[in-house]
Amino acid sequence: MKIHFPASFLWGSSISSYQLEGDNCFSDWFLWEKKKRLEPAGASTDHYRRFREDFSLANSLGHNALRLSLEWSRIVPQKGIFSDEQLKHYIDVVEDLRIKKIEPVITLHHFTNPAWFVQEGGWLKPLSIDYFLEYVRRVLAVLKDKCSYWIIFNEPLVYIYNGFIRGIWPPGIKSAKSALTALKNILKAYSLSYEVIKASYKDKPSYISIAKHMRVFTPCGYFNYGQNNIFAFLRSKLFNFRIIDNLAEKRRLDFLGINYYCREFVKAAPFLGKECRDAHHRDDKNEIGWFIYPQGLYNILMRLKKYNLPVIITENGTPGLNNEQYHDFLSTHLNSAAKALNEGVDLRGYFWWSLLDNFEWDQGFAHKFGLVEVDFSNFTRKVRPFAGEYKKIIEQNSVEI
Ligand code: FCB
Repeated sequence: MKIHFPASFLWGSSISSYQLEGDNCFSDWFLWEKKKRLEPAGASTDHYRRFREDFSLANSLGHNALRLSLEWSRIVPQKGIFSDEQLKHYIDVVEDLRIKKIEPVITLHHFTNPAWFVQEGGWLKPLSIDYFLEYVRRVLAVLKDKCSYWIIFNEPLVYIYNGFIRGIWPPGIKSAKSALTALKNILKAYSLSYEVIKASYKDKPSYISIAKHMRVFTPCGYFNYGQNNIFAFLRSKLFNFRIIDNLAEKRRLDFLGINYYCREFVKAAPFLGKECRDAHHRDDKNEIGWFIYPQGLYNILMRLKKYNLPVIITENGTPGLNNEQYHDFLSTHLNSAAKALNEGVDLRGYFWWSLLDNFEWDQGFAHKFGLVEVDFSNFTRKVRPFAGEYKKIIEQNSVEI
């Protein structure tokens, strides 16, 4: 059966400033890479200077939308100093997208913070909210007439987990108490930013959300299934739905932005269970060790129906495959999405992570997620064949299920 996506469906890919732009030397990640001797992002894809070329590529791949983030540390490189030059840069970026008939979906915070902000105590301090709001106001002043889609935070729980519990991302803290404080401030910053953005649009439409990382939590079936099942349920409730429930209740979501990559096998353990990575799971694993599970996208989308909100898949993708496998990943996930659409989920968009190969945080440049391959020695771009298949799907605006 052929499933048609809505006529105004947003088709595109996602990128983020720190991962692609290059030379973001005022960011907390820039200092972190040095401190931890990680592979540095350096010039990355040099997207900051090559954005026009990259948007032409997106255009040639049939995109009618692109999700991108603004680098807070460029716009506010020092406490209290707002850079008109960098604001102008992002105006140019958005205008170029508009010229190419690509709808910008703007992320305001994609994991990175200005270094000065972190030195002031970052998200652990109540003042963080004021600093963030001031940044949001300045951005709105120049971009609100040019954009309607806003994602205030990318994957807040992933950020909190890696930065405040595992301590493998800046600020490198390992404390549940700090994690809760930071999360509380981020959620408050989210709600207040939502109000500021909404108010500034007055009667004009604006669509505001977060990009929520969603996982399917599957109880490990090898031992103790009953107990594992309870922990899988608990993890899903807390990790997938807690924040969404909270924001939906407060009417602070205009749509649901969903990043979906994989599933996790869960086994019982105090206090929230733990991920089961035992050898008995032989399901398709990608090179990072994520369990690929296309059916999971359908499951998640169906569980979002109860919120009665439009849904946009703001990220989906995988690294390290050959062309046929990339294509298979894309088509099986789109198949799941189309099935959910057909069964009443108000799906409005799909974004592949990512337009270009780029810097994958603590993993450096090892993993290639791009529709477009990048040669990092000379920044040459080369379209991967499966991107052509994606383009065909976009043109048909439909898939067979
Ligand atoms: C997501 C992040 C994105 C990228 C992909 C692979 O969790 O939002 O920045 O790293 O994973």
